[in-house]
Parts: sequence; structure tokens; C-alpha cells
Amino acid sequence: MEVIQVEGGRPFGGEVTVEGAKNSALKLMAATILAPGVSRLTNVPNISDVHVMGKVLKYLGAKVEVKGLHELEIDTSDIDRFETPYHLVAKMRASTAVLGPLLSRFGEAIVAMPGGCNIGARKIDMHILGLEALGVAFEVNHGNIHATTPKGLTGTTVTLDFASVGATENLMMASVRAKGTTTIDNAAREPEIVDLANFLNEMGAKVSGAGSPVIEIEGVSELHPAEHKVVGDRIEAGTFLAMAGLGKTPVTVKGFEPRHLGLVLKKYELMGLKVERGNGECTVSREGAIRPVDIQTLPFPGFPTDMQAQTMALLALCEGSCIVTENVFENRFMLASELQRMGADIRIEGHHAIVHGVDGYSGAQVKSPDLRGGAALVMAGLVADGTTTVSDIYHIDRGYECFVEKLQGLGAAVSRVEVPDQDTL
Ligand code: EPZ
Repeated sequence: MEVIQVEGGRPFGGEVTVEGAKNSALKLMAATILAPGVSRLTNVPNISDVHVMGKVLKYLGAKVEVKGLHELEIDTSDIDRFETPYHLVAKMRASTAVLGPLLSRFGEAIVAMPGGCNIGARKIDMHILGLEALGVAFEVNHGNIHATTPKGLTGTTVTLDFASVGATENLMMASVRAKGTTTIDNAAREPEIVDLANFLNEMGAKVSGAGSPVIEIEGVSELHPAEHKVVGDRIEAGTFLAMAGLGKTPVTVKGFEPRHLGLVLKKYELMGLKVERGNGECTVSREGAIRPVDIQTLPFPGFPTDMQAQTMALLALCEGSCIVTENVFENRFMLASELQRMGADIRIEGHHAIVHGVDGYSGAQVKSPDLRGGAALVMAGLVADGTTTVSDIYHIDRGYECFVEKLQGLGAAVSRVEVPDQDTL
């Protein structure tokens, strides 16, 4: 099996450019279902989740062509089925993002119930409740959700219990061609939501308010294919910037908007890091000790849950103690037990992780719990005493393109190594 091996202590720093956002690209790909014809997406990250979404679209009858690195040409003219297969949805729960587009185009969809994952149950009850308000009827049997629109889709006001990213996206895509206007209240405000709204409007939709808690979608009769550049990946960027907090040399990250990491960068400044924000780029460096700062994850513009693991890897070396509170997912502290194997002192109490800073990490064999936790373990390995071996790196490959190569470009002693399974027990 492949592992990532990190020799700790090697100085690293310099410049790295991030890709388009995984958490936008997957939804933009699903949105192409809405408009028969050829849409073109650029700045698409070359990651396994994008490959899986490509397989979902091909399964539905679309043609998906990779036109050079980071560019996809998707022809949805001949999509002739509205059922997604369990094996693909199980591999990537974001496949449920085809639900809204299929309902909008065909008035029917069969989507496998997405399983949970390491970080939580990942329910879709808010998706279902919101779509039912638009006139969708649901039956769940044999592990599949069968959605129909007996009287078509009719705009209405949907207030979400929680600012769910996925539910907001599915409701946006289901309502772009509904009769009348749909208002989503308590909508997710992530930059990826804004990116999707921009793409939908480029296709002829009438979406306003994206980025605010109230999104309004005025139904239109037809949509047409469009071209779109995926917004830069703020979480990939934040991952590399967090690394700078561990090292001694500045790291400059290009290809994203620093304002999309607003609170993260403010917290990093409170932790004593130096942050220089530029146009489409940001530089972080560390001068003194890492100061303890409490973190609590919330929907955007709150502190992103997808940056919780990387920040915990920083705080585990802080000068003092602090509390990390995870409010978005019910089980996103699995990184803590792996960091403890590397010498961290972290105690989990429900949604809180009580972190007592230690002087440093010691290299160890660790297991990636999810894609952000995996990246955080590699981060810790960069400054650990000795060698760190991270297994289950398929998690990392889901969301980070050329992660090892980018780290090597920063001077880190990181490599992918094939090891016989028994060696990583
Ligand atoms: C998206 O997941 C992202 N994934 C996640 O990124 C990210 O952590 C999350 O948004 C929050 O920002 C993609 O975009 C592919 P939610 P999503 O709906 O849409 C619960 C990563 O590391 N919930 O905002 O699934 C849910 O269980 C991944 O890149 C319900 O209970 O997130 C979770 O606890 C991880 N019922 C919370 O809400 C629902 O109907 C937030 O979920 C929907 C969600």
C-alpha cells in the first residue's frame, strides 16, 4: 500500500499555487446537468473526487472530456437516465449534488442514500425537507431515494434549520427552473455557494443574494451551457499557510482569495503568525512561539470546519492551553488520537478538544482519519523529530492535487512510498 513518509526537521518554505476548489468543482459539474449541451470548466482540480463525479455524469449519459490539465468539457445533451449508482454515491457523498439538477431537468431522480463517513452521519434530511417544500415527493426504499415531482417544482420560501452547504446547493439547483421564485433563508454563505450561483447565472438563471443568508432564485424557462473558472481552493490554501505556522520560513500561497479565509487568517495573527494578504495570494510566517487561541467551527464566515484539523496541528505546539470546539460535524476529532501518537497532549470532551501545548512532535506511524486530518498529520511530520509515516492516504488524494510534489517544491523531505501492508499495521 502507498504511504506518505516525512523526514522531520528539514527546513521548508517558499511559494505554492493552489488549484480550483474541490467543494465548488463537484457542484459545478453536477450543475451542467441543468443545461443540455457542452459546458466548459477550467481550474478544475485533478483529484479523485472530481474523477468520481465524472463517472457519475458518464453513468447518467453525459460525455466528460479532460481537455488539458484542469479543464473539463462536459456534454450533457444525451443524459438519458436519472439514477445514480450506490457504488459511486458510497464512494463520494457529494454525488447527492446531482439530486437538484436531475429533478430540475427530468422531474425525477433516484439517488442512493449516502452513507455516513468518518466525520459524521452526513444526513440529508434538510435537503429532503427543502425539496419537499418545492413539491418533490420522496420514497426511500432498498437504500435508494426515489424523488418525483407529481405537480412540477413550484417556488416557495425554505428556511434551513442549519446553514447546510449541500442543502443550499441542491435547493438552488432544483429551483432555477421552478415556477415562481424560491427564497432560501438561513442559506450557507461559503465562497463555493457564490461560485455556484455565478455559474448558474452564466447559464441564464436568476440567482441573487448568494453569500448572504438569504438567496433568491427566480425560476426561468430554459438554461444554456456556459464556461466557468472554478474559484481557488481556500482550504488547500489554508492547509499550506498553516504549515508556515510550524516552520521557520515564510510560505506564500497563490491562486485563492485571502478574504475567503478571513477568520482563519485573523486567528493565525492572534496565534502570533505574521500574515501578509495580497491580491490573489497570501504569505504567512512565524517569528516567535505559537500563542494559545480558542477556536470554534461554524458555517462561513465562521471558522471553517475544514481548517480545524490543520489548526489543531498548530495549536498542539502552542505555548499554553486552548480549546477547539467542533460545532459542524459530530465526529471530527479523530486527528487528536493520531497527534497524540506523535506526542501531542489533547483531551476530547464531547465537542471540545482541550489542547495543552507540547514542545514538539516525535515522528510515528499514523493513519489519516479523513482528508483534512491526513493533511494535518503530514504537516505535523514536517517538524517532528524523526520519520512520520502516514497511511490511508487515499483520503488526502480525494482533495489535494500533487500534495507531495507541492511539499517537495517547498523543500520538505516528503515522499510517497510503497510498503507491504503488514509493515503498516
Ligand atoms: C460540505 O459538506 C463540504 N463538502 C465539506 O467539506 C464541509 O466540511 C461542509 O460542507 C461544511 O462546510 C463538499 O462541499 C463536497 P453541510 P456538506 O451540509 O454539504 C449536517 C471537506 O473536507 N446536515 O454544511 O455535507 C451534516 O451532517 C469536506 O472538503 C444534516 O444534519 O456539509 C453536518 O454535520 C468535509 N442534514 C452539518 O449539517 C442535512 O440535510 C454540515 O453539513 C445536511 C447536513
